[in-house]
Formats: sequence, C-alpha cells, structure tokens
Amino acid sequence: MAPSKVEDGVPQVSKHTGEQEPLISVSNNGTESKKLDPIRKAATPSAPLTAWDTPGEAAFDFRSDTITTPIASMLLAIQNSTLKDDVYHEDQTTKDFEGYIAQRTSHEDALFVMSGTMGNQLALRSHLTQIPHSVLCDYRAHILTAEAGGTASLSQALVSGAVPSNGIYLTLEDIQANVVLGDEIHGCPTKVISLENTLGGTIMPLDEVRKISVFAREHGIKLHMDGARLWNAVVEGAGSLEDYCRECDSVSLCFSKGLGAPIGSMLVGKKEFIHRARWVRKAIGGGLRQMGVLTSAAKVAVDENFGTDQYGANGKLQVSHAVAKKIAKIWTDLGGSLSKPTETNMVWLDLKKAGITNPAFAALGKKHSLKVLSGRLVVHYQISDEAVDALEVLMKEIISRKDTAPKEKTVGKVYYG
Ligand SMILES: Cc1ncc(COP(=O)(O)O)c(C=O)c1O
Repeated sequence: MAPSKVEDGVPQVSKHTGEQEPLISVSNNGTESKKLDPIRKAATPSAPLTAWDTPGEAAFDFRSDTITTPIASMLLAIQNSTLKDDVYHEDQTTKDFEGYIAQRTSHEDALFVMSGTMGNQLALRSHLTQIPHSVLCDYRAHILTAEAGGTASLSQALVSGAVPSNGIYLTLEDIQANVVLGDEIHGCPTKVISLENTLGGTIMPLDEVRKISVFAREHGIKLHMDGARLWNAVVEGAGSLEDYCRECDSVSLCFSKGLGAPIGSMLVGKKEFIHRARWVRKAIGGGLRQMGVLTSAAKVAVDENFGTDQYGANGKLQVSHAVAKKIAKIWTDLGGSLSKPTETNMVWLDLKKAGITNPAFAALGKKHSLKVLSGRLVVHYQISDEAVDALEVLMKEIISRKDTAPKEKTVGKVYYG
C-alpha cells in the first residue's frame, strides 16, 4: 500500500490503489510531517515522533525494497520480546518464530539468519560436503552475481550460471542441458541446483519448480531456493508459500525487503540440515545472543506485510504490485519501453532506448527528490503517492528530450539489493 498523507489521524484513500492508506505521514519533499500517527496517535513533547513512525525518505526511494523502514508495531513487538541467549538456544521468541516459519513453509526446522546472503551461503555450505562440487543457477542469480563470491570462498564450489532459453526463467530443459552428472574426472559435478524466485521481479512458475524438483531428487542433487522475494510470487497468485517451499530441500526467505523488518532472513529445511547450518552460522560469527529483538520484529513483518494466510491475501505487500503496474503503464503510455514485463514489484524501464544513462537518470531523480539507481524501479509498500506523481513528471521529462539526449554509454555493473 502506498502510504500518503494523514489528515488529522483520519485514514486517506490512495488515489493510485483506491485503498485506505496506512496512517503513515510523509511530506512530498521527503521530510517527516508532524501529522498524527496511527499507533502513537500524536507526537507530544515527551514522546516526539521517531524514525519508527514514518517511512521518511523511503517513501521516495525506488532503488530497492531493502530500503523499507521498520514501523512502530515492530518496535512494540521488540519491547515485548524475550531477551534470552539464542546461542544457548534459550530465546523463546526466536524459537517460536523459527517454529512458526517452519510450519508455514512445510519444513521440519528453520534458522533465523542475519541476511539473505547469509541464508543462501549457509544453505550452500551445509548442502555441499566434498569437493569437487558445483552449484547450478540462473546466470543472473544473486548467489552468482552479488554475494561477493561467497560460494567460492566459503564452499569451494564452482557456480555455473545457465542462460534461460526462454529468456525469462530456467526450465527443466535448461537444467538438463547444463547439469554435470557422474564422476568423469574433467567435470565438476552439480550437487546443488539453486533457483531464485522472484528473480528481478519475475516469477518462476510452480510447475517448473516441481519438474526441476523431481529431476533433482532423481539425481541426488539438492534443490535450494533463494526465496528472498518468494513472498511476492505468492501474493501474485503463483502458488502458496507451502506449495513452493515443499518442493525444495532448503529455502531462504527475507524479512528485510518488501516486508520491512529491520534485519533478518530465515533458512528452512530438514532438522539435520538446519543443525549443520546453525553450526556454520556460529563459525562465521552469526550466532547472536538476545536474538528476540530481531525475531519479534520479523514476525510482525510477516504477519502484517505478507499476511497470515498462505497466499498473503491480507498483507500490505500485494498493493506494491498494483502500484508497480500503474507505474509501468504511465511509462509505456508516454511511449517508453520496458526491458521486462512487470509481474510483481519491479518495473524495468528501458533507459537505453530512452537515451539516458543510469547516472543521468539518478541525477534527474535527485532533481525530483526521488532516489533511483537504474532502470530498475522497485516499488514497496511505503512508496508514497507523491513519489509516483514525481516519477511521472520525471518520465515526461525523459521522453520529451529523448531525441536530443546524449548517447553516452553506461559503464560498469550495477549491483542490486
Ligand atoms: C534475490 C536476492 N537474494 C538474496 C539477497 C541478499 O539479501 P541481503 O542483502 O539481506 O544479504 C538479495 C538482496 O537484495 C536478493 O535480491
């Protein structure tokens, strides 16, 4: 849901989604407004509004959904969390939350970790036991392109990136064409297939995951899913959380992207696998003491922003998809092109065709009080109506100067969160 203005504590209706706004207050230049807050009701001299009460600049930030800020209900949950030591495995809030996610994903056990990267890397390290071994994934996968080469350093594994033949997502045929089986000594056998869902906002269909899962099991290959944004595929109706997760030996799920938790991801899998991952987590300094301060907030992120049912039908996340589609339409109606269809919360503007480089686009964004990084615009539930309006003005400016724009090249890779 795109939050907008709060008029005297009365919920407003978003002109972009037609839905009631959450009572979060932001002004259109990104500064915090002194209007009323739903949970705190009013700022008082003894209890002034804090950063927890408003998305602040996140309401104007399209760079990533990692930008989402934790909210007051999370702070309240933190206040009510248990404060025991999780390395001793004594923190009840954490144990309950891990049990809750294990149950919601149809897995035996779960482990809270600091980040999506940590979840993926612990999963790979725990599945991979003996060199030579390799991981097969999409050539654009986060584990290959954006985890600082962690699979090489932590697991001594070769990561092999396959190009989807349909140009969209990996199919069983792509996996079969790229997998390394057997023990011929030139090869580096595939021991894990890692699927990313969503990948750049694109959904991997459940049927395809099922086919790859059957193939992986037949060949004794572990199937991991980087489900940092699996929530988005689910709320879009691609399948339930359980449907997707049960096909995989492990899944990592992020709470700190579109769901807005301050920190954390969850790794799910079998008991023995989670025990090993807990061990590796300790080895890399990821065993935390009073973990409840993180897991309590992450639970609120799941229940409020994804939702309490298996399809995320009653959370706020789904509204970000409607806003993304609206933004995509504004751009294409103006004559702009998209480099990918808008399936979930990401809009991919084809900036090259529009004659503008990433840095020039980012600079133009700044002029309009927006944060953008590249043609990838990520919509999250804290994006404001004002930000969408400003984006439209920015888009008009790009399209109107299209023919005269300098044709300089974009040099260097953009790393996405
Ligand atoms: C698909 C995907 N997986 C994993 C990660 C890593 O998450 P984190 O930044 O929490 O390490 C990201 C980060 O944005 C991501 O987009």
